[in-house]
Amino acid sequence: MVELGRGLLPLWAFEEGITFLNHGSYGATPREVTAEADRWRARLESQPVRFFNEELPGAIRTAAVALAGFVGVPPERLGFVENASDGTNAVLRSVRWREGDEIVTTSHVYNAVRKNLAWLSTMTGVVCVEAAVPFPTPDDASVVDGIARAITPRTRLILVDHIASASAVVLPLPAIVALARSHSIPVLVDGAHGPGMVDLDVDAIGADWYVGNCHKWLASPKGSAFIAASANPAWEVHPTVISHSYGMGFAAEFDKIGTRDYAPWLATPAAIAFHERLGGPVLRARNVEMARRNALRVAAELGTETGAPSAMFGSIATIRLPWDGPVDWDVARLLRQRLWERTRIELHVTALAGALWARISAAAYNEDADYAGLAAALKDTLTTTRTGTSA
Ligand SMILES: Cc1ncc(COP(=O)(O)O)c(C=O)c1O
Repeated sequence: MVELGRGLLPLWAFEEGITFLNHGSYGATPREVTAEADRWRARLESQPVRFFNEELPGAIRTAAVALAGFVGVPPERLGFVENASDGTNAVLRSVRWREGDEIVTTSHVYNAVRKNLAWLSTMTGVVCVEAAVPFPTPDDASVVDGIARAITPRTRLILVDHIASASAVVLPLPAIVALARSHSIPVLVDGAHGPGMVDLDVDAIGADWYVGNCHKWLASPKGSAFIAASANPAWEVHPTVISHSYGMGFAAEFDKIGTRDYAPWLATPAAIAFHERLGGPVLRARNVEMARRNALRVAAELGTETGAPSAMFGSIATIRLPWDGPVDWDVARLLRQRLWERTRIELHVTALAGALWARISAAAYNEDADYAGLAAALKDTLTTTRTGTSA
């Protein structure tokens, strides 16, 4: 049995002496998984033609089978992509939109996805509707109700996060998918944070497509993510890069998107093995409990509140900062930077619903002690930054 916590830090390549409380933004890849990707790169360079022509197709499918088993979908309906943005783009670009078609998402949507939708709107005349989801203190019913009220006869797609980035809220997917089905509207789930954070059974979710990152909570190298399609998706989806395999079926098209570095995909089974060795479901449950527990603790120490009831958080959680100065992304960035410079604590800070929020993460290498001095460090940083911003 592996002992989780700071003792594991040498398995990662972190700088000495830092407290890393933001696994959520980009993940962090253990040395042995990086080494596996490097082995694949060395294999490629030892005979590039043999590698690309003969070895790669089978190797990618082997990796896809491992990932498909981990996330709960048959391998022929799973394709690797570069990242969650790539997967979302693939779905959005694979259909002929009509002017006035509506896409419903929520006010918790990730900003890059919001921009993706704005671009789509400019290109096609699609209308993007953001269902209002309360924050702070949302609840499952208010999420579903907000989406229900945004649906019209012109709604052609519902695009929802599994775990929202800025608010850290886990959305009630079963109820959202049931609602969409009752209106015969396809669903795309942006599960950027899903794999490795929560127990995942993609087919049981029942959405038309689920897009997930492997580099965050599964700790694969960057550049490994997936798109999974249901048995009967609303439309055929093609990769954002169309290449030799066009027209050869879902898995084949995603498997070969031209000459690129496929090592992050090939090293994904090693990331899964590492995750399982650290406990798999036990690790995930432990991380979720740690984030929830410490969010409540830090909020109490700051005299504020968490962004949502504990039951709606996974292994990231938001805490309101006691801040009465200007609220925007520049101030959030400044606070993050100041905290890092003063304490070597890496923490996500965001501006949302007129307030500043700290978002803590809980990963295998974290332990309760990592959050012990956080409230005091934040208070101190807030005080000096407040002086700075009002000067
Ligand atoms: C909810 C959500 N969607 C999409 C993304 C984009 O992920 P990527 O940059 O890997 O494409 C993120 C990244 O944090 C996210 O949190």
